[in-house]
Amino acid sequence: MADLAPPAPSPTSNPDASTTPAATRRTAPTDRPVGAPLVELRAVEKHFGPLHVLQHIDLTVHRGEVVVVIGPSGSGKSTLCRTINRLETIDSGTITVDGKELPQEGRDLARLRADVGMVFQSFNLFAHRTVLDNVTLGPIKAKGVKSSVAKAHARDLLDRVGVGDQAQKLPAQLSGGQQQRVAIARALAMDPKVMLFDEPTSALDPEMINEVLDVMVGLARDGMTMLVVTHEMGFARSAAHRVVFMDGGQIVEEADPETFFTAPTSNRARDFLSKILTH
Ligand SMILES: Nc1ncnc2c1ncn2[C@@H]1O[C@H](COP(=O)(O)OP(=O)(O)O)[C@@H](O)[C@H]1O
Ligand SMILES: [Mg+2]
Repeated sequence: MADLAPPAPSPTSNPDASTTPAATRRTAPTDRPVGAPLVELRAVEKHFGPLHVLQHIDLTVHRGEVVVVIGPSGSGKSTLCRTINRLETIDSGTITVDGKELPQEGRDLARLRADVGMVFQSFNLFAHRTVLDNVTLGPIKAKGVKSSVAKAHARDLLDRVGVGDQAQKLPAQLSGGQQQRVAIARALAMDPKVMLFDEPTSALDPEMINEVLDVMVGLARDGMTMLVVTHEMGFARSAAHRVVFMDGGQIVEEADPETFFTAPTSNRARDFLSKILTH
């Protein structure tokens, strides 16, 4: 993120804006222009033994764009995310972030990881460190940021995700929704160019889902480039420029959220949507 301006004000044209959670509020993501390609996957192939988990994936995420990835369990969504910050290697094809191909190892790989923030389903916070430490450790250890500077930045970020008053607590003293917001602040602390979210709300109790989605909607409004694996259609509709549907290791269909959810073209997408919509 280039700067950490406070979240944009809510649209005043919506009379329900004060009571409706941001994640369910309709905005027009396409009003936010997208820029040049930032993350590019070309002809990416990946196997786990006999399993062809990513099959000829071509995907471009543009600067400022929010792309939601949706699809059945086992379709390769997590693997796709993990290849983008090289937690998984690929067999063939190319992945570039901001025009540079993913480095193999060493200092360049650490730099790439700083450019690509990741938020997982399980928050993965350090249990024995305070919330503030969790957010400052990366910048101090991986980027050599001075402790005082890292702390000031972390406090701003914790305020921004709504847990500024929890800075001295241990993660276990926070709710799941608060811990996930700390995990988002921790990823933002590295000033990433793009944020990857892998089912960030699926481990949360229902009443905590919106507080996390609201933070993500705020990031989207501020122009963060985001690739988000989620089945939260309210989020997709209010924040995504594009929905990418995966099944069996392939990108089967891509469309703007309204088109995808109301008029999917493939049988596989129709079948998947009928299953999640009947819950
Ligand atoms: N490290 C691994 N080793 C072997 N198989 C894996 C590994 N990670 C994931 N898989 C398999 O790859 C497939 C895709 O997994 P994943 O990317 O996690 O799918 P999704 O996130 O869409 O549920 C699944 O069949 C899963 O069991
Ligand atoms: Mg997954």
